[in-house]
Amino acid sequence: MPSATPGGMPVPRQPAHLAIVMDGNGRWAQQRRRPRMIGHRAGARAVNRTIDFCLERGIAVLTLFAFSSENWGRPQDEVDALMKLFLAALDREVDELERRNVRVCFIGERARFSPGIAQRMARAEQRTSGNRAMTLNIAASYGGRQDIALAARRLAEQVAAGTLLPEQVDEQRLGRHMALADLPPPDLFIRTGGDTRISNFLLWQLAYTELWFTDVLWPDVDAATLQQALDAFAQRERRYGLTSAQVAPPATETVSP
Ligand code: IPE
Ligand code: IPE
Ligand code: MG
Repeated sequence: MPSATPGGMPVPRQPAHLAIVMDGNGRWAQQRRRPRMIGHRAGARAVNRTIDFCLERGIAVLTLFAFSSENWGRPQDEVDALMKLFLAALDREVDELERRNVRVCFIGERARFSPGIAQRMARAEQRTSGNRAMTLNIAASYGGRQDIALAARRLAEQVAAGTLLPEQVDEQRLGRHMALADLPPPDLFIRTGGDTRISNFLLWQLAYTELWFTDVLWPDVDAATLQQALDAFAQRERRYGLTSAQVAPPATETVSP
């Protein structure tokens, strides 16, 4: 439900954490009879528009799915071209993120990237670590199942070392070893490109996230598309397994002056 300002004006509910599966770059290019890479380049421009939109709206955390664990299986020339694009973007965009006061973090299996890319990721994280306007998480070589498996491995190591009992393994402890553990989970998930699936994005973290899908291809995403998602989110009632009556805010008395 929308909360109210002291003046009585309703404040629309807005996500604090937005997570996006940026899909449809290849089809966008195919529609134009251009190589898929042209779609990925146009997709990079949509990333910048999305960052600006989130900064304008005061969204605190934006998590973008840039490259999945499974995307390594694409044709080698597409993977190579994506790595080149990634490298160029890392070189080009860090100053821009710095100027916009955005902190960038990468989640996923970093060891699979070339040393050049891995170093630039680390440098981008260090350089922007003090920025406060927004946290931008980029999921690269990321898989939700892998995220859960690695967290389980951490706990198994503690059990093997004798510092944790098996019966102490619970949701909280497992969750603390998952990616983004230091942030609130996503409130709103957006997938562009017309498919209605999660494709191994944040499986654990999306447990109670509101899902929103659009046919718009990622390179065509603009403020109007993103606003449509926020408008849909503002209408949702998040019940977390409870009843509507339990989660509804108490009715406030309106006293007219
Ligand atoms: C998403 O666009 C970007 C990545 C997965 C790297 P796609 O490349 O999946 O585009 P479509 O789905 O083929 O149109
Ligand atoms: C999901 O898109 C991954 C990213 C957007 C990075 P895919 O294009 O890889 O997903 P599927 O293959 O349609 O499930
Ligand atoms: Mg796709």
